[in-house]
Amino acid sequence: MSVLSGKKILLGVTAGIAAYKSAFLVRLLVKAGAQVKVVMTPSSREFVTPLTLSTLSKNEVFSSFTNEEDENAQWNNHVELALWADLFLIAPATANTLSKMAHGTCDNLLLAVYLSAKCPVYYAPAMDLDMYKHPTTKATFDTLDSFGNTRIDATHGELASGLVGKGRMAEPEAIVSFIEKDLLKGLPLRGKKVLITAGPTYEAIDPVRFIGNHSSGKMGYAIAEKAASLGGQVTLISGPVSLQTNTSEIELVSVTSAEEMYKATRKYFDETDIAILSAAVADYRPAEVASEKIKKSDTELHIKLEKTKDILASLGELKKDQYLVGFALETENELENAKSKLKKKNLDLIVLNSLRDKGAGFGGDTNKVTLISKDNKTLPFEVKPKTEVAGDILAYIIDEINE
Ligand code: CTP
Repeated sequence: MSVLSGKKILLGVTAGIAAYKSAFLVRLLVKAGAQVKVVMTPSSREFVTPLTLSTLSKNEVFSSFTNEEDENAQWNNHVELALWADLFLIAPATANTLSKMAHGTCDNLLLAVYLSAKCPVYYAPAMDLDMYKHPTTKATFDTLDSFGNTRIDATHGELASGLVGKGRMAEPEAIVSFIEKDLLKGLPLRGKKVLITAGPTYEAIDPVRFIGNHSSGKMGYAIAEKAASLGGQVTLISGPVSLQTNTSEIELVSVTSAEEMYKATRKYFDETDIAILSAAVADYRPAEVASEKIKKSDTELHIKLEKTKDILASLGELKKDQYLVGFALETENELENAKSKLKKKNLDLIVLNSLRDKGAGFGGDTNKVTLISKDNKTLPFEVKPKTEVAGDILAYIIDEINE
């Protein structure tokens, strides 16, 4: 999954011949999972039609302060557009528009959006080689860079004038990959190895039966997806669940039993920076697994159970610099029980869910958690979708590891 997935991207198109490439840009951004809106300078409409860009972006294209074709003359709110965007990309960016951006000129909608934008701004210059080399252009770049805008340098090649030199807008693929890399660089879990366990474990009784539980794995998978989107290098050790992850950055290790989960987790732990154990691991397993299907008889059947290894506690013993997080699912004396698990298993953080809370626990799409840190800070949250709970847990961990 691209880091651009789910991002709201505003593409600014200005009047250069490279404007025809903005159609490819929109396609690539949409393909990467971004929502795209386009704002054009009035003259750029002569190079590429708003219809092309609105069809590809599946959104209305904006190029003036009011929509003149609309008899109610609807106001295109530049502030709203600017605040909507997670990222503003101006490509192609002509010398004229760049100079106006550097000096605060605001004589079209695109420039008004630029002045209102609080999000990161990227610009891909496109102009003839002598314009590109001109000291004024150089001064413009310096000013824009000093404002915190990011330049995606033009490349060397044949220009619309027929001359050959530097000034061609970077190719759409190169622009998208530049932005992806740049966004990844700034992510808080960049360079961190994150180990996550999720789902239930199944403990075999015989070849067809097992002892298991109702864990869906949704919480662990949500944490894995979120950690990857924050730049983490994620290994997800998952018990049997019906979920899938489409994120290629997540390394998925599928296991069935507690013993398999234990071995897989131990294999990765040394290299791990953050371990979050959300799996609902069976505490007991049949002491003996029948090699053939057990036939029913007229008498009672007793299965002797033996304890499984406590994976979390074993990591707590091994822990060096790793930040170790456990979950506690409680039905009574919640805070007390969770705090004692935190201590006993040598954790940095425990995520408590109480089965008494509506919207918390197994199966559903929501959860209600309280975070308890090893210095006894407790942080309760409201009922939220598990995807948001994942964000809360990771935001807390990121704050802690950066302290
Ligand atoms: N856990 C584990 N290995 C086990 C059992 C539990 O790694 N064999 C982890 C879970 O992934 C979770 C935490 O321990 O992060 C708490 O699990 P829980 O079952 O609530 O606690 P237990 O210590 O097993 O205590 P009890 O079942 O008695 O409440």
